[in-house]
Amino acid sequence: MAGNTTYHYKNPVVRWFDSRLPLVSLVRAQLYDFPTPKNLNYFWTFGGIAAICLVVQLVSGIVLAMHYTPHVDMAFNSVEHIMRDVNYGWFLRYLHANGASFFFIAVYIHIFRGLYYGSYKAPREILWMLGVLILLAMMATAFMGYVLPWGQMSFWGATVITNLFSAIPIVGGTIVEWLWGGFAVGNPTLNRFFSLHYLLPFVIFALVVLHVWALHVPGNNNPTGVEVKSAKDTVPFHPYYTIKDLFAIIVFMIFFLGFVFYAPNMLGHPDNYTPANPLVTPAHIVPEWYFLPFYAILRAIPDKLGGVIAMFASIGVLFILPWLDTSKVRSATFRPLYKQFFWILLLVCVGLTYLGGKPPEGGYVIAARILTAYYFLHFLVILPLLGLFETPKPLPASISESVLKGGSGKPAAAAAQAEKR
Ligand code: HEM
Repeated sequence: MAGNTTYHYKNPVVRWFDSRLPLVSLVRAQLYDFPTPKNLNYFWTFGGIAAICLVVQLVSGIVLAMHYTPHVDMAFNSVEHIMRDVNYGWFLRYLHANGASFFFIAVYIHIFRGLYYGSYKAPREILWMLGVLILLAMMATAFMGYVLPWGQMSFWGATVITNLFSAIPIVGGTIVEWLWGGFAVGNPTLNRFFSLHYLLPFVIFALVVLHVWALHVPGNNNPTGVEVKSAKDTVPFHPYYTIKDLFAIIVFMIFFLGFVFYAPNMLGHPDNYTPANPLVTPAHIVPEWYFLPFYAILRAIPDKLGGVIAMFASIGVLFILPWLDTSKVRSATFRPLYKQFFWILLLVCVGLTYLGGKPPEGGYVIAARILTAYYFLHFLVILPLLGLFETPKPLPASISESVLKGGSGKPAAAAAQAEKR
């Protein structure tokens, strides 16, 4: 992403500055003039939406930290103090808590967009893998953030999840004590979680910079999955996509702020309004909704270590996805079989989310086992085989041809036939 210094800026101060540090040229080349496929649909706005979510979390989090106290005797009360005494503290807190949920909504849509249009395929493997690292960092950040209010769910969630590491043979117990900073979840745990919860968003920020850098080397994929062939296939990012992204961000914000103002506790758990009590276990320990599919996978395996491995493998499998999908065709638009398996996978993930919120007993466990098995089957068996046996539909010769002759989906030949009829 080197700055382009060939521009001749009229403003002498900008010219002086840019010839010494080509920051203006960098922004110009990467965010204004960047050639972007002209057929991107609204699913391509979720990367920008996720970036806005990250900024909202950073800004609201930094101000919250000015009023929060990371001590087991004061954390819960300091959050109540934010809610009641700090000017607009309730707004900051609800913005941050619901912001986490909406950040995950944006990123999950972003990931499924990538899965549908094959955006993870060559030459975008590094871009995709950076995305998976971002997802892991987001999960760690959200988990530690949820512990900070030191309510019942904070404490018991932290206890359950940190205890998972005890399943690791030989060193497990030592690792858990090291994580806790003692012999149970307590003040040292809260302190380090606060420290890491403050640090990790900046790591995510750095990863996002790399993510966008890795995007700007090959450029965007697009709904046809056919690479850009000539300048005719693209438009400059500004004003076309800046305006489109802005519109999508505003619509997203309406939903987000709808929750913040009208249903701020709907996505949370009422038990977290009870101060943490190590002597009373809640009836059901459930994580936030965005962890539920992983929680369902964890509990589907009868063995503790097996469950932990399966849970981490469910993300690990995404990491190697570019090499599991053997199809030469990217977009599901031209892959009649893959398209159907994509929708099944989406339903399976929704099913796992539902089951993660149910008690691990009877039919729920059996269903979770079947869906977990299918999840891995999709990535490890179906995807590699599909590429070998599926007959894709004919691809359009170029993005322009697809746009001009038959919309984003139809190949030119089919569109021409439709015209004749
Ligand atoms: C903080 C979270 C994230 C941010 C801010 C972010 C940001 C972006 C942006 C701005 C784009 C370009 C616009 C777009 O295609 O929507 C993009 C593209 C992409 N992202 Fe992300 N991303 C995030 C997380 C992820 C994750 C978790 C994955 C996958 C596991 C991922 C995979 C991709 C891929 C494959 C593309 C290329 C899309 C294409 O050109 O078709 N991203 N991202």
